[in-house]
Amino acid sequence: MTRIITVAMQKGGVGKTTTTINLAAALTESGQRVLAIDLDPQSNLTQHAGFDPDQISPTIYDGFKAEMDGFESDIRQAIYETDEGFHLLPSQPELSLIELGLINTLSRERVLATLLENITAAYDIILIDCNPSLGLLVINALTVATGVIIPIQTEYLAARGALMILKSIETVRRKKLNPGLRIEGILLTMADTRTTLTRDILAAIDSQYGDGIHIFETIIKRSVRFAESAVAGQSILAYDPNGVGAAAYREVARQILQQNL
Ligand SMILES: Nc1ncnc2c1ncn2[C@@H]1O[C@H](COP(=O)(O)OP(=O)(O)OP(=O)(O)O)[C@@H](O)[C@H]1O
Ligand SMILES: [Mg+2]
Repeated sequence: MTRIITVAMQKGGVGKTTTTINLAAALTESGQRVLAIDLDPQSNLTQHAGFDPDQISPTIYDGFKAEMDGFESDIRQAIYETDEGFHLLPSQPELSLIELGLINTLSRERVLATLLENITAAYDIILIDCNPSLGLLVINALTVATGVIIPIQTEYLAARGALMILKSIETVRRKKLNPGLRIEGILLTMADTRTTLTRDILAAIDSQYGDGIHIFETIIKRSVRFAESAVAGQSILAYDPNGVGAAAYREVARQILQQNL
């Protein structure tokens, strides 16, 4: 069965896009058939994967637009192969118009699920990068997912932000949009492990949400290499294959595959 993992957190700049592309690359490296979906109008994932959001067409926007206008669409036309071997379903800035239009759409929480119906079986893992909000696009991503990864920036008080996304996950389960949605784990990002802060935050998260919520053992350390790889349009695995960042995301990918057993 295909695993669909949504990377979501309403706070901006916590490492959602970075996590999505690097897990896509790491999972591809370990032999998985991977599709990465850019569900953010900012189109950072599209750019990071080496495409120009202002030039690329069609994108996921066209799929949503067709569904909302009452047409059937073939999302396969909007899937591109990246240099690193995984597939990309890109975004474009106009996707921001979709969020408003969705409000008046029938089964507005399930449009993405409908779009993905015919392509899901072609992949082992689908990763979805979300915009920093708890709006309808994110709800669509939570509704179609089998699991969620929540990146949290490893800094003082950052852990509190996870409460809101956890509530949204609970709502999606309770309203029967996706009763089986599981939390793959909280991923601590941008850590400066020379401080004791990381340990404090781990303890805070554990006491606040500890019951049953998995926190990935691997912590993503702060490194300027990540921003550099984004500019280069490459994953950290391609840009700095022997660095600690690449090793960390490989390790997280390994843990994700193990959780499947
Ligand atoms: N571990 C890290 N160390 C240092 N910089 C990082 C790290 N991870 C990501 N970054 C950089 O931090 C910035 C924000 O990361 P990213 O775009 O992944 O966050 P995001 O959660 O997707 O943001 P948004 O909410 O705007 O979509 C980027 O410039 C990225 O290159
Ligand atoms: Mg992003």
